[in-house]
Amino acid sequence: PVLVVDFGAQYAQLIARRVREANVYSELVPHSMPVDEMLAKDPKAIILSGGPASVYEEGAPSIDKKVFEAGVPVLGICYGFQVMAHELGGKVDKAALGEYGKTEVMVDEARGILAGSPNEQDTWMSHGVAVEQAPEGFEVLAHTEGAPVAAMEDSAHKLYGVQWHPEVKHTPLGQELISTFLHRCAGLPDDWNASNIIDDQVSRIRAEVGDAQVICGLSGGVDSAVAAALVHKAVGDQLTCVFIDHGMLRKGEAEQVRHDFVEATGIRLIEVDASEDFLEALKGVTEPERKRKIIGEKFIRTFEKAQRQVIKEAGALGKEVKFLVQGTLYPDVVESGGGDGAANIKSHHNVGGLPSDIKFKLIEPLRSLFKDEVRAIGTELGLPEAMVWRQPFPGPGLGIRIIGEITRERLDLLREADAIAREEMTKAGLDRDIWQCPVVLLADVHSVGVQGDERTYGSPVVLRPITSEDAMTADWYHLPYDVLATISTRITNECRGINRVVLDCTSKPPATIEWE
Ligand code: XMP
Repeated sequence: PVLVVDFGAQYAQLIARRVREANVYSELVPHSMPVDEMLAKDPKAIILSGGPASVYEEGAPSIDKKVFEAGVPVLGICYGFQVMAHELGGKVDKAALGEYGKTEVMVDEARGILAGSPNEQDTWMSHGVAVEQAPEGFEVLAHTEGAPVAAMEDSAHKLYGVQWHPEVKHTPLGQELISTFLHRCAGLPDDWNASNIIDDQVSRIRAEVGDAQVICGLSGGVDSAVAAALVHKAVGDQLTCVFIDHGMLRKGEAEQVRHDFVEATGIRLIEVDASEDFLEALKGVTEPERKRKIIGEKFIRTFEKAQRQVIKEAGALGKEVKFLVQGTLYPDVVESGGGDGAANIKSHHNVGGLPSDIKFKLIEPLRSLFKDEVRAIGTELGLPEAMVWRQPFPGPGLGIRIIGEITRERLDLLREADAIAREEMTKAGLDRDIWQCPVVLLADVHSVGVQGDERTYGSPVVLRPITSEDAMTADWYHLPYDVLATISTRITNECRGINRVVLDCTSKPPATIEWE
């Protein structure tokens, strides 16, 4: 892999994605990982990310110099670039002029990582510290008003650094720079693409599963659908899918699964109505992490119970079900604290929410992938567009969109409001512009309203339309006023008990996408 060393910036994930967009596989690691451990992963190249610290401050994160001596091509970006300069004996100091946002770079030498670059280019920067002097053996390739050394390289040792952020879209030639580093400087082939990922996963799954039986929980979302289709390609009829209705699904979910998935793939499906069971277990629970843990646990128990039926349907008497397929994605792993050194933001049910005594072995063919890669694989596998391009919906469903206790009435109410919002956004042609739009019921909040000359005392729902590239960061989406107006009127007219519709205009960070 190409290792992206995270120095505590939000940019690290973005860098990892850009590497993959250049068709090279990448993984994130924390800067605290010992260099020997990094090298043990046999990295083909290493990229040091930006970060909020200043290299010369006490306790500033750094990396052992060994990383620059291992013969592995290294690209330092922003803070990572300063770390490289500092560790190798260059001069790094507070900049005379800090540069934040759009910054023009003057290219002095259009070589190496800047091969083919125009003499001047716009970049996106964020630095108050500058490399004043490059370490010995390095050539300066570019400068800016505030940074005497804005890009440098030691081509003999394959070490490169830039002060700006090539990974953000505000640097128009950024992707080109990353691609130049990977392909020209590090000599890596561009072979990370949907069909290779599929081939690779199919042979891995075959080897692991053998002739055992496998089950896969479908949620109606794209991740579990693609995971199932992959496993099906690998082991065919040994796979049975289970669709669990936990009572917290959106309107029309089961029909969608039957229509867009089963009909398209011919995969065997068992439907289980476990809503009583889930809702019973969630009675009185309001704390978000507890809700998530209970739902995660119940899922597994329901699969375990469904086992006998699966075996019967599969005509595989005497064979136990050994494997459970999950559509876990890379961001789920990172955000659940599963990534190396990452903090637990919330327990995504398919990662942190699992009980410890599962009887199945997990198969997670998407565990190292981002959503756009999963969509590409889904398309390559021939899943219908309506399935592949569905907006994400969390496993715990509407349960984590009811702030307060989950009850059947509240679920019914939210289900209606959610369906209206989705319908209107689809009608307005916004499905592909919006990443997803949670509709959240603030069930314990009441406010006074007036409807048909009567006083009402109802709950508000929140619309949370967002745009995102991978759900790790998000911007709130500026829904057109007329769409907002229609949704608001329809929800308050059609959903008895909701008397206010409000808009969540917060990005991530600081908020997360879901409210719980
Ligand atoms: P947050 O709320 O963490 O959401 O910003 C990031 C993305 O993940 C989805 N999400 C989940 N997906 N199981 C899932 O499969 C979960 O437990 C879960 N929680 C959040 C969320 O909808 C968003 O797309």
